[in-house]
Amino acid sequence: MPYRKCGRWGLKLPAITLGCWHNFGGDSPTRNQKEMILSAFDHGITHFDLANNYGPPYGSAELNVGKILKELPRDEILITSKAGYDMWPGPYGEWGSRKHMLASLDQSLRRVGVEYFDLFYSHRPDQDSPLDETMGALDTAVRQGKVLYVGISSYSDQMTRDSASICKSNGFAPLTIHQPNYSMLNRWVENGLIDTCGELGLGMIAFCPLFQGLLTDKYLNGIPDGSRASIQNSSLRKNELSDQNIKVIQELNDHSLQRGQSLAQMALSWVLRDQRVTSALIGASTSEQILENVKMFEQAEFSVDELRKIDRILAKINLPKSLWA
Ligand SMILES: NC(=O)c1ccc[n+]([C@@H]2O[C@H](COP(=O)([O-])OP(=O)(O)OC[C@H]3O[C@@H](n4cnc5c(N)ncnc54)[C@H](OP(=O)(O)O)[C@@H]3O)[C@@H](O)[C@H]2O)c1
Repeated sequence: MPYRKCGRWGLKLPAITLGCWHNFGGDSPTRNQKEMILSAFDHGITHFDLANNYGPPYGSAELNVGKILKELPRDEILITSKAGYDMWPGPYGEWGSRKHMLASLDQSLRRVGVEYFDLFYSHRPDQDSPLDETMGALDTAVRQGKVLYVGISSYSDQMTRDSASICKSNGFAPLTIHQPNYSMLNRWVENGLIDTCGELGLGMIAFCPLFQGLLTDKYLNGIPDGSRASIQNSSLRKNELSDQNIKVIQELNDHSLQRGQSLAQMALSWVLRDQRVTSALIGASTSEQILENVKMFEQAEFSVDELRKIDRILAKINLPKSLWA
């Protein structure tokens, strides 16, 4: 497993991080969760990404993963959590107020059963809370010794610049990392954010690098039982799996096989082709998927012609224009 420097900071992240949004809640078998986490660690994945409301039910992923991580040496792993999305009822259960951020952090630490998080994020921008309030809450978390590094997720390019500058001018703990959605099918970060992170010295960890599974071969012949798209009200929407889009995925799959890789491996190599991307934040439902994905490093390089060919294929995809750079 290669480890990449998180922006200008001394912290190194594994180029692949395991996220626990799906398949680690109260509805998933404990044995499978344990197998995924332990085999991830065995293959050099030292970073596990959580948030207050991962489940279902909310909070259960932190409880389950926390129990499993007790089996690993704390100083050899990074544990991440976030606050900002809806977690508990009432006006303090979500968003970016100091009240929510710090109460949520305390709850998350208790659920995971650790004294501190290595990384802690503002999970989404909040138009109603001034940035200095949210950044100030992250700073307090660091000063209280509950968090080592802080970051932001899904903040726009401009809000990222503003946040970093507020931290600097107030003497707050600096931002270390940004967590945006980034994949072959969602390239909004190429419209400025990736340059901004590079310039400000922030690391970038790309979530949903497989577009929740669409950038694998699993949907080429329909929607398999038990897959993410098969779940009712799935976060992977059926229109994203239109016939037109599946044809594009087929073309990508053909190209990946010509490279001697699976499509999942090619999609991860593609996200990591820019060194400013510190880590690809994958999800998984089995340890076999994790093992397949970490093998991407055997064939991670692209020629310029190949990247152009991939762009030509991707131009045929039918997804909202906001996802494109
Ligand atoms: N900051 C934020 O707002 C935010 C938002 C979303 C996610 N995240 C983070 O990002 C993490 C990853 O999100 P994600 O799970 O959507 O990522 P993803 O890597 O794009 O998708 C993961 C899914 O792809 C499928 N998959 C993975 N490897 C495969 C393989 N080799 N072959 C076939 N299928 C494969 C599995 O689907 P099946 O389950 O169908 O098998 C798996 O659950 C989350 O756990 C969370 O930590 C953050």
